[in-house]
Amino acid sequence: MAPIWNVNSVLPVNYQVKMIDNIFSIDNPTLLTGGTQECSNILRRVVVVDEKVYQLYGKKIRDYLNFHSVNYKIISLSTSELTKTIDAVLHVVQAIDEFEVTRRQEPVIAIGGGVLLDIVGLAVSLYRRSTRWVRIPTTLIGLVDAGVGAKTGINFGHHKNRIGTYFPC
Ligand SMILES: NC(=O)c1ccc[n+]([C@@H]2O[C@H](COP(=O)([O-])OP(=O)(O)OC[C@H]3O[C@@H](n4cnc5c(N)ncnc54)[C@H](O)[C@@H]3O)[C@@H](O)[C@H]2O)c1
Repeated sequence: MAPIWNVNSVLPVNYQVKMIDNIFSIDNPTLLTGGTQECSNILRRVVVVDEKVYQLYGKKIRDYLNFHSVNYKIISLSTSELTKTIDAVLHVVQAIDEFEVTRRQEPVIAIGGGVLLDIVGLAVSLYRRSTRWVRIPTTLIGLVDAGVGAKTGINFGHHKNRIGTYFPC
């Protein structure tokens, strides 16, 4: 009989949830210190923002990043259950790749509701098999569920959340 090995391993899960007011105030460093303990000299970030949130807060976000001399790329995504697709995920992956994100030092920042967080979450979980990210939820579902949970999911065919990952970080 051929030899058989049983392999067991445990993956520790460790991430922080912070309740922060005025996240885009220029004197609040949280947005740039979150998501990584490894700091590079030059701050670089890909920021993916829900289109409606970008209409409301785009200037504040840009002012914040400019004030802190961040080299950034902003992607504004139109979000709905119809656009929560693999195409949207690959669009984010493409942007992350073009910006040449360093996966441990340059967490992707996702700002939006559950749909945006699901799209970006799946993208960062796939990109180089795990890239750090910071979630800024902007809806109630985002605050209580998608922004703090450990799963990502997008729609496929006629099915909701048919493709996804367990991504507890
Ligand atoms: N991954 C998870 O753990 C998890 C958990 C729960 C829900 N979800 C997913 O979350 C999705 C639902 O999320 P949702 O309810 O946040 O909906 P949503 O992300 O579709 O947002 C609803 C609408 O609000 C807009 N919006 C977002 N923030 C806004 C703001 N601050 N001001 C004005 N408009 C704003 C968006 O553009 C959108 O049109 C579902 O697809 C669900 O599957 C995921």
